[in-house]
Amino acid sequence: MIRKAVIPAAGFGTRFLPATKAQPKEMLSVVDQPLIQYGVEEAVGAGIKSIGVIIGRGKSAIEDHFDRSPELERFLEEKQKTDYLEEVRRISNLAEFCYIRQKEALGLGHAILMAEDYIGNEPFAVLLPDDIFDCEKPCIRQLIDVYSEYNASVIVLGRTDEEGTKKYGIIKPKQITERVFQVEDLVEKPGPEKAFSDLAVIGRYVFTPEIFEAIKQTEPDNKGEIQITDAIKLLLENQLVYGYLFEGKRYDAGDKLGFIQATVELALKRPEFANKLRNHIKNC
Ligand code: UTP
Repeated sequence: MIRKAVIPAAGFGTRFLPATKAQPKEMLSVVDQPLIQYGVEEAVGAGIKSIGVIIGRGKSAIEDHFDRSPELERFLEEKQKTDYLEEVRRISNLAEFCYIRQKEALGLGHAILMAEDYIGNEPFAVLLPDDIFDCEKPCIRQLIDVYSEYNASVIVLGRTDEEGTKKYGIIKPKQITERVFQVEDLVEKPGPEKAFSDLAVIGRYVFTPEIFEAIKQTEPDNKGEIQITDAIKLLLENQLVYGYLFEGKRYDAGDKLGFIQATVELALKRPEFANKLRNHIKNC
């Protein structure tokens, strides 16, 4: 039912400077694959076959990463590096990719709006590439399952602390089941005093196509950016929106510390690194 996903990747990645001065944040590597590949693999694991990536100037490495690379493949073939060869071919066959330009980084809501023609009039998934989800059932699949049951937009929720209320959108929840909440209201970065709850909106969404109209009607914030949280607030005036407390683990890899944590924890899960890395950390 959800055939397409949108991955916004046109931001400046300022929190990662200077690393992101001349390379996309989405191409920073966690263990041995770029951030954006985690999102793509998650979407593909959820049965999505078509992915629209929102890009801007300086982001062509993303297109190259998911494209065929005949010279590299020939080289690996000649050197009989079969495992690497299979892996680079697998990456270029993961999905159908469509690259859509956001000419100016005017916010996440604006980036999603750029995909309107690509999506058309159907529900779709959105995955932010700087959030890595490590879940038994792909996080976006968990949301799609809720969408199928409630036939309405669904946003992923995570429990947060006081610090998180300054970083994320926080919802006013009406609990429906153990993990499903109806979103009654939401506020972007309210801070601990004004937060309705400890339920934060993080980087996965399933939207009905009406979100595009809501984004068009959303006023830019004081930084001139169109925020998706504000558009969801408008959507709430006409439609129900649900939140889902996902099962699994999430790393905020858009932030330097979260990126380091993701790198260490995901490397510890790899048998070829686990023991040596654990011993190394003990001796640090
Ligand atoms: P972020 O806010 O995490 O990314 O947006 P950013 O703006 O690149 O990073 P900072 O805050 O300056 O450090 C989440 C995702 O949305 C994309 C980003 O590329 C990132 O993958 N995005 C953000 C866009 O595509 N366009 C925008 O205008 C803003």
